[in-house]
Order: sequence, then C-alpha cells, then structure tokens
Amino acid sequence: MFFTNLFQSNLKSQFIIKKIEYYPATESTMSDLWELINKDNSHVLVITDNQKNGKGRLNNKWHSKPGCSLTCSFSLNKVFLNEQFNLHAILIPVAIIRAIKKLLNLEIKVKWPNDLFYENKKVGGILIESKNKQQVLNIGIGLNVNEDNNDFPNEIKNKTTSLKIIKGHPIQREPLLAFIINEIEQKIKSLDSKKLINIWQENCIHINENICFKYQNKMISGIFKKINLKGQAVIEYENKHITYDGPIDFI
Ligand code: BTN
Repeated sequence: MFFTNLFQSNLKSQFIIKKIEYYPATESTMSDLWELINKDNSHVLVITDNQKNGKGRLNNKWHSKPGCSLTCSFSLNKVFLNEQFNLHAILIPVAIIRAIKKLLNLEIKVKWPNDLFYENKKVGGILIESKNKQQVLNIGIGLNVNEDNNDFPNEIKNKTTSLKIIKGHPIQREPLLAFIINEIEQKIKSLDSKKLINIWQENCIHINENICFKYQNKMISGIFKKINLKGQAVIEYENKHITYDGPIDFI
C-alpha cells in the first residue's frame, strides 16, 4: 500500500501538488487526471497501487505490478513560457534522474525522448499529454520499483528492470516520489535551459551513437548529436543536421 502520509511528510512542494487523490485501484491515473482537470481540479496528484490499464507512449500498454510499481500523474499548468515549452520533456527525466541519485545513489540514464534506463534495461517511462495550446500539461510517471524479474511479462522481461533488482533490496515508493516532485519543482523554480540540456546530454545513453528514426515516412539511421535550445533532438543524417521530436530506436 502507498502511504500518502509518508509521501506528504517528505514532500516540500509549494505549487505543483496541493491535493493528493489516492486510489487503491484504477484503470489509468492519466485518464483519472484528465477527468479531474476537466472538473477544474488543478494541482492534484493522482496515485494508485494498482493501475489496471496503464497507457504508455505511442499507444503502448504500460505494465505495472500492484503494490510494487510507482504509477502517478499530475499536471503542470501555465508553468513554462512559450519559448521554454519544449523544455518540460527534458526537465522531467533530469529531475527523476537527480532524485534517484540523491535518494538511492544510483545512476539512471535517459533515452530520447524520456525513457529511463539502467544499463541496457528500461526502468521507467514518462507520458506527457497536453491540450489548450499546451496550457494544460499532464505528466504520467511509471517507475518499476519493487518488481522481481518474474513479475514482468515475457515480451519485456529481458529488456526491463526495477530499482529493487538493481539495488538488491526493496525501495520505499513514498520518499522516492516526494524526492521526484521536490526536484521537479526546484528545477522549474530555477529554470536554466542550458544546464538542463547539459545534464540530459551527460546522462543520455546514445549521444554520438547511430540510432534509427522515422523521417519523411521512412525509417532511416543517423547519429544522435545533441539537444538544441528548443529541447528538440538534433540528428546527423547525410551530413545534415535534422531537428526531430519523434521516437528513436537503437540499431
Ligand atoms: C512510456 O511508454 O514509456 C511511458 C509510460 C508512462 C506510464 C505512466 S504510469 C502512470 C501514468 N498513467 C498511465 O496510464 N500512464 C502513465
């Protein structure tokens, strides 16, 4: 069970989270958040112990194990100025990486756009949905925390891991989530795009590596160079630098 009191006692948030909606079970915290936002509930964090129909990026399903995974959603409304807008996709994974480093002394890495990796295995993902010309920005975080290898479905078993598997002991989800929210808030308060981009790049597992991406309706390969100041990926392809927002694959 996720203990909201323990979460709150570690939380320093002043503006992201003002209310917590804990559901023992639900279909998707992302759908719940949209419902709450549409009813004018802002600054709410939705968290569940049992997400039964989790949504991943690109219409994938997101698997989570009751009582073991961290599955939550919250909204960042009118936080970023227009020109800073794309930076949210950089800021969230950077804040999660920093929070995990502070709490667990563990180096988690990022794969474009915002998959969280440990060595060559995925440990978490971030889903970002927006509407109203991006005034409403809903963030869903899914982290594998206390799963064992047998808890993952066969099709992802070999490419997925959890913080418990990495550290060799169970991890309390409540302080972990509080550290993540605190770090996100702190990074928003002292927003420094160059610094954020540098941290993202330093922690990226494929800088200057060959990757696959979809360009003009074809899958092609190029070299992932960097993130530009607008928060887009810059990929080298046929001696040109292409800016790119979509997903990539390893070769
Ligand atoms: C990805 O595909 O990598 C992103 C996964 C995001 C999953 C989280 S879990 C909490 C929130 N609710 C959902 O239904 N999805 C997101």
